[in-house]
Amino acid sequence: MKAAVYERYGGPEVVRLAEIDRPAPAPGEVLVRVRATSVTTADWRMRAAAYPGILWLPGRLMTGLTRPKNPVLGLEFAGEVAGLGEGAQAPAPGTRVFGFSGKGAHAEYLVMPATGPVVETPAGLSDEEAAALPFGALSALVFLRDFAKVRPGQSVAVVGASGGVGIYAVQIARALGATVTGIASGTNRDLVLELGAEHFVDYRAEDFTDSLARYDLVFDAVGAVDFARARRVLTPGGLFLPLNFGFREMMQALWAKIAGGPRLKIATSGDSAADLEVLKAMVAEGKLRPVIERTYPLERIAEAHAHVEARHRKGAVILTVP
Ligand SMILES: NC(=O)c1ccc[n+]([C@@H]2O[C@H](COP(=O)([O-])OP(=O)(O)OC[C@H]3O[C@@H](n4cnc5c(N)ncnc54)[C@H](OP(=O)(O)O)[C@@H]3O)[C@@H](O)[C@H]2O)c1
Repeated sequence: MKAAVYERYGGPEVVRLAEIDRPAPAPGEVLVRVRATSVTTADWRMRAAAYPGILWLPGRLMTGLTRPKNPVLGLEFAGEVAGLGEGAQAPAPGTRVFGFSGKGAHAEYLVMPATGPVVETPAGLSDEEAAALPFGALSALVFLRDFAKVRPGQSVAVVGASGGVGIYAVQIARALGATVTGIASGTNRDLVLELGAEHFVDYRAEDFTDSLARYDLVFDAVGAVDFARARRVLTPGGLFLPLNFGFREMMQALWAKIAGGPRLKIATSGDSAADLEVLKAMVAEGKLRPVIERTYPLERIAEAHAHVEARHRKGAVILTVP
């Protein structure tokens, strides 16, 4: 089968199309014929071995100390079930599915546990749209609903509101009943407001941490704000929730707990079939929609990597796998 592989860490050019063996589903696994996938921030970070702060060491240990252990990247996908390993019950072969495999999706076929985050694709979503959801929307859902416990009436600032996670964070914070302020550059104002933000700040024109506004939550989906700046606009019991963190944030989270006042929480997102069903329900209710900026065929994956690494994407960057 065709797959995009990388055998050393480096720039987008280290990813190339190759012919490799098709994986076979082990007991309990599902084999998926991938039709659409995406390049996410996690993909370029793993390809470049570019992990923020002290995450460099655990990152390298996870992906391979000197060279990549797993040559096929790709976290999220949509396609159809092509086979089942022994004992795997569902979804039945032929069913359109989408999900979060965590690896291996930049290929014609992938395998993953059938009980993992893989669910039936609703009729109203194309494969490209379904593949645009898992990474960004699951992260936004888990961080906002579970870690921040956003409640109706709260005021939420989303930094990086037009990016891979931010674009869903705006919609999900709004769906949870919050009043949302989106922070991105001015060209994305209309998009962010249309997705449900009530206010918008162009970070190139003003610093939202200098304003008189106060937020119950500052959700930094891009790594542009630190705790000292976030505190200036947080309510006394408010929370700073950065997606990117290092040793400094770990210490600050501890200290904030002891000292009182605005809090800082660090966490990593989980991915479950149950939460994919939550996203499907939100899509069906019109509370959430996939946002796709660009679509490339799999063979142009290096261009997709370069675009996502530039950190100015507007939602998902999709790869089609014909
Ligand atoms: N902890 C976890 O479990 C977890 C889970 C998921 C992701 N992450 C991490 O979270 C990060 C988010 O990834 P992502 O894919 O959403 O990022 P992304 O798509 O690269 O973010 C790009 C967005 O950030 C905006 N932006 C750039 N500089 C900004 C600034 N100074 N102020 C405000 N907005 C700015 C850009 O807006 P303009 O184009 O308008 O400039 C663009 O909309 C990644 O680093 C990822 O590794 C962590």
